[in-house]
Amino acid sequence: MQQRLKDKAIIVIGSGTGIGAATVRRLAAEGARVCAADINLPAAQAVAAEIAEAGGDAFAVAIDIADEASVNTAIAAAVERLGGLDGAHINAADLRVIFQDSDALDVDMAVFDRTLTVNLRGHMLCTRAVLPHLLKRGGGSIVYTTSTAADAGEATRPSYAVSKSGLNALMRHVASRWGREGITANCVAPGFVITAEMEAGGQVPKDFLDYAQAHTPSTRLGRSEDIAAMAALLLSEDGRWINGQVCNVSGGSLMR
Ligand SMILES: NC(=O)c1ccc[n+]([C@@H]2O[C@H](COP(=O)([O-])OP(=O)(O)OC[C@H]3O[C@@H](n4cnc5c(N)ncnc54)[C@H](O)[C@@H]3O)[C@@H](O)[C@H]2O)c1
Repeated sequence: MQQRLKDKAIIVIGSGTGIGAATVRRLAAEGARVCAADINLPAAQAVAAEIAEAGGDAFAVAIDIADEASVNTAIAAAVERLGGLDGAHINAADLRVIFQDSDALDVDMAVFDRTLTVNLRGHMLCTRAVLPHLLKRGGGSIVYTTSTAADAGEATRPSYAVSKSGLNALMRHVASRWGREGITANCVAPGFVITAEMEAGGQVPKDFLDYAQAHTPSTRLGRSEDIAAMAALLLSEDGRWINGQVCNVSGGSLMR
C-alpha cells in the first residue's frame, strides 16, 4: 500500500461500522495516525484495536454529533492525543430512521428533525470544531460523506435527500471561505454500498439488491472500500487541488 498519508493526523467521525470503519482501515494502511470517533464506542474501539494489532496507529473516542458539548469534548480529546489535526472525514449519519422516511406528506416530522439534526446540523458542529485545528496547521482537508440521493430526485426518503443536499452546500461554503487558507473541503457521494455489516446481517432484501444491481452500470455493487479509497485520495496530497466538489462513487448509478 502506498504511504500517501504518512504521519498525518486524521479523525474519522462515524467510524464504528460500514464506510467509516473501512476508511479508518484504509487511512491507517496508508500511514496515517487515526482517531476513530463514533457514538458506538465499542465498535470504534474494535476497529482501532484491529489496526493496532496489525501494527497501525489508531485509537477510539466517543462522540455524539447531535450534541454540541459531546462534539467539542471528543474533538479536543482527539486533537490532544494526535498533537494537532491534518484532516477529518465527517461520515456519520443516523440511518435507523431512513426506512420511516416515506414522503413529504406522510413522513413523521420527528424523522425529518432527527435526520437533519444528525446528518446536517451534526456535520456543521463537527466542521466548527475541526476547522480551527486545521487552520492552525496552515491547512488541511475535510471530506464529508453525502449521497447520490441528494441529486437523484427520488420519490422516497425526502428528509435524507434534504440533509445531504444541505451537506453539499455546507461543503461548498467551507471550500470557498477557507480555500485560500489551505483548506480543501469535498464530499464523497456513494451510490448504494453494501457494507460488511449489511451483508453479515442479511438486512437488505434480495429484491432490493437485484434492483440496485440492475440500476448500476457496473459488474458489481459498491463496497465500503470503494468509498474509503476516494476519501484517502481527497485527504492526501494527490487531492490537494480538488476543492468544493461532490465526487460521485457509485459505479455510474448517477452520472453528472
Ligand atoms: N451504505 C450506503 O449505501 C450509503 C450510500 C450513500 C451514502 N451513505 C452514507 O455513508 C455514511 C456511512 O454509512 P454506512 O452505510 O457506512 O452506515 P453505518 O450505519 O454502518 O455507519 C454510520 C456510522 O455513524 C455512526 N453514527 C450514527 N449516529 C451517530 C451520531 N449521532 N454521532 C456519531 N456517530 C454516529 C454509527 O454508529 C455508524 O458507525 C453515511 O453518511 C451514509 O448516509 C451510505
